[in-house]
Amino acid sequence: MQALPLLPYFAQQAQAKLPANIWHYLQSDAGNGTQLQANDAGWQALKLIPRPLQALQTPNTQCTLFAEQWAHPIMLAPVAYQKLFHADGEIGTAVACNAQQGQMMVSSLASQPVGDIVKQAQQALWFQLYWQGDRARTAVLLQKALAAGVSAIVFTVDAPVKQALIDLPAGISAVNLAQPLAMQALQPGQSQVFDGWMTQAPTWDDVAWLRQQVKIPLLIKGLMHVDDAKQAVALGCEGIVVSNHGGRVLDSTPSAAAVLPDIVAAVGGQCKILVDSGIRSGQDVFKALAMGADAVCIGRPYIWGLAAEGAMGVAKVIRTLRDELEMTMALTGVSNLAEIRQVELYA
Ligand code: FNR
Repeated sequence: MQALPLLPYFAQQAQAKLPANIWHYLQSDAGNGTQLQANDAGWQALKLIPRPLQALQTPNTQCTLFAEQWAHPIMLAPVAYQKLFHADGEIGTAVACNAQQGQMMVSSLASQPVGDIVKQAQQALWFQLYWQGDRARTAVLLQKALAAGVSAIVFTVDAPVKQALIDLPAGISAVNLAQPLAMQALQPGQSQVFDGWMTQAPTWDDVAWLRQQVKIPLLIKGLMHVDDAKQAVALGCEGIVVSNHGGRVLDSTPSAAAVLPDIVAAVGGQCKILVDSGIRSGQDVFKALAMGADAVCIGRPYIWGLAAEGAMGVAKVIRTLRDELEMTMALTGVSNLAEIRQVELYA
């Protein structure tokens, strides 16, 4: 019997089913749990005032971005190596996403071929691009994704310095990458970070280059600073994802909820603004939209569903958040996403 609400129940099931090292890889953050807590707390600190007696006018959660329309604004964030969590892998996630009429970002580190994932999804998905050390290698991965028929590119820029937290089991790898990136051997006294990783990290010049290569919408994921959001707009990017990578990269960052209002004030209306990190309920989705986000992404919650019940579990997680969003709209008296934007949160 399921005594817990669905998300904590799936988290419990996932922990019970997954080997300890894979559970740790999924849940870990850069601050031994403090970053995850801070991300959740950022949303929870915002409060909602009930507005009874409102007559809802054709209520719906429809979301339109870049001329694509979905039934709701809850997107699936890119998560690497999904066969680690369930044999269904990314294809299971994609099928669930389509069944729930939403959108998914396929990771550069997907464990199944991007062409197969898009085909099984029976819809154009978005592709999350990681820099591949230089422009030529990055272009090869980009072309593979474009050939698969993806409809937007999400360039993740916040994790140039990050150690892999897991030794991948046999049979699971980043199958869409040509070859593991060869790191130049370090000389004695050289820094792993400065002379190693950072020599292969992208810069704003590379974003400008990428903009030339990508004729479909280009979003930059992993921005937390107003000036960076402005720079992305100045370079012609159609969207940004305000995110601290689920707290996994830099310790002691503010929550995404804390920085979102200033970013909306700076670039709202000039590009689409998505947000992730710590979204755990339909109420959180509502709060993000009320603060001016155009859509949200979830990471760990749908992976709990995937680990617990495969594709069906992912579908249940999306449906649950959507039900909660609808409930929140009904109780606050708003009929659609545009009206949510008019709601003032009680801080
Ligand atoms: C991630 N995330 C991530 N982001 C990305 O751009 N490319 C990737 O390959 C991955 N891989 C990945 C693996 C795992 C196990 C996790 C948990 C996360 C970050 C992800 O897209 C998203 O930003 C966060 O997961 C959002 O935070 P929540 O919803 O997990 O709190």
